[in-house]
Amino acid sequence: MAVPKRDAAFNQLAEYARKHSNDDNSITTTFGTPVPEKDSSLTVGYHGPVLLQDWFSLDELAHFSRERIPERVVHARGAGAFGYFEVTHDITKYTAATVFAQIGKKTPVGVRFSQVAGELGYADTVRDIRGFALKFYTEDGIWDITGNNQPVFFVRDFVMFPSLIHVMKRNPKTHIRLDYDMFWDFLTLRPETTHTTMIFFSDRGIPDSFRKQHGYGVNTYAFVNAQGKFNYCKFHWLSNQGIGTLTSAEAQKIAGIDPDFHIRDLYNAIANGNFPSWNFYIQIMTPEQAAKSEFDPFDDTKVWPHGQYPLIPVGKIVLNRNPENYFAEVEQIGFDPAHLIPGIEPSPDRMLQGRLFAYGDTQRHRLGPNHIQLPVNCPFHVHNYDRDGRFAIHNQGGAPNYHPNTFNGPVNDKRAQALTPQIPLQGVANRIDSVNEDNFTQARVLYQRVMKPDEKTRLVQNIVSFLVPTTSALRERAIDLFAHVDESLAQRIRDSLKATAIEQHVNL
Ligand code: HEM
Repeated sequence: MAVPKRDAAFNQLAEYARKHSNDDNSITTTFGTPVPEKDSSLTVGYHGPVLLQDWFSLDELAHFSRERIPERVVHARGAGAFGYFEVTHDITKYTAATVFAQIGKKTPVGVRFSQVAGELGYADTVRDIRGFALKFYTEDGIWDITGNNQPVFFVRDFVMFPSLIHVMKRNPKTHIRLDYDMFWDFLTLRPETTHTTMIFFSDRGIPDSFRKQHGYGVNTYAFVNAQGKFNYCKFHWLSNQGIGTLTSAEAQKIAGIDPDFHIRDLYNAIANGNFPSWNFYIQIMTPEQAAKSEFDPFDDTKVWPHGQYPLIPVGKIVLNRNPENYFAEVEQIGFDPAHLIPGIEPSPDRMLQGRLFAYGDTQRHRLGPNHIQLPVNCPFHVHNYDRDGRFAIHNQGGAPNYHPNTFNGPVNDKRAQALTPQIPLQGVANRIDSVNEDNFTQARVLYQRVMKPDEKTRLVQNIVSFLVPTTSALRERAIDLFAHVDESLAQRIRDSLKATAIEQHVNL
């Protein structure tokens, strides 16, 4: 079959047909036996009832009814690709993680891009934070960085996460997204959201493709080196395609024409051999620096200023393969901040601490207790004492299923033991609300020193477009919030709201 001149995503089926002939291509049942007739059910006469013995048609219908699994409770919409990570600089003085063992070492990676709040069928170009999750298939097992395209996050305590997501999802009564009253009510009551909200409304709130955005681990982790010395660290991966963004007007137009704009772009780039890449960096903070830091280094609403904690180059990530089976490799991939390897540890970052629990928990619900046995989640032989459960595939070849034992079951790993840091901890158990931490200094730096004049103008327009539909009381609270960032920003929002109201005949 001739393949028409269209892009790779449009031509997927035509390419398949070109490569596969129809000879020796019989339909089979799910258990592999040949099927005589696919397109008619087995009936008694033309109008007769269908026979129960028509197991093939019934089996197909039963499988169809079970095709969908629960979508991710957040980050439901996305796309994935595969490739490798290559070490370009030596960081073994910071970590003994084997993935960084020597310059030139390559490790396979899986990546998933997503948007936080939209559902599976949403349009790609809505304003949102984008997820940017990395899975490293290392020789020590799976290491995941479940990151985003922004360096900071809205809230700093994981208990705030369900409420944050509720206000960005559908109103449970009207089933409408976005409910602007819910949105501004929550944001103005929790001022720690301000820094990320500023980025959300900036140009970076709508990337023009998955390829043209940076990635950040956001949370603070720790590294342990071969001598057992630990340091805190952050992860960054910066796009070699540059940064590309869309204005709200461009994004709205594209959403109406091609809701799969970002998915198509990624697929076509990789299919055409235009492999996207990112340079990978770390920031390092010693425990002594952390103890004296003027900001909380474990607060994910804050960045570590690059002047004080410079980016240290480590390697690069290249994506060079589209998924063969989107469902198996992207819908069923499960990233988990608790997937850490020897040499990389969590930090006291409160948000990260909650995330260590949440991902495995949701994946046991979304994918099942043995999701880790799916090849995309773990292509290795695992040695432990877990057995059975729904869809168990590997049963570890008759090894003992209890520990300790004297029948040569798997034993504790000495190297992992040596790399477990000794961290002295002390304190009084308490629930401490962090709402009155410093919530505005870094947002102010972003507005006053980083944003260019035209970016500030679009920031104001974007904020105003979300403020117009809410109540006057919430508008006042939002203006007050932005006044804590910068008085002139608040004034511009107020002025722009008045002008917009006149234009739209809204009674403010
Ligand atoms: C305590 C706060 C958080 C909780 C409870 C939480 C929870 C979740 C859950 C339940 C999922 C769905 C996972 C799945 O079904 O496989 C998810 C996905 C995701 N989260 Fe979070 N999250 C939190 C904070 C964050 C933060 C701070 C970031 C950014 C670094 C982040 C980035 C992501 C990404 C990128 C995904 C999508 C992973 C994928 O592509 O499959 N989350 N989160």
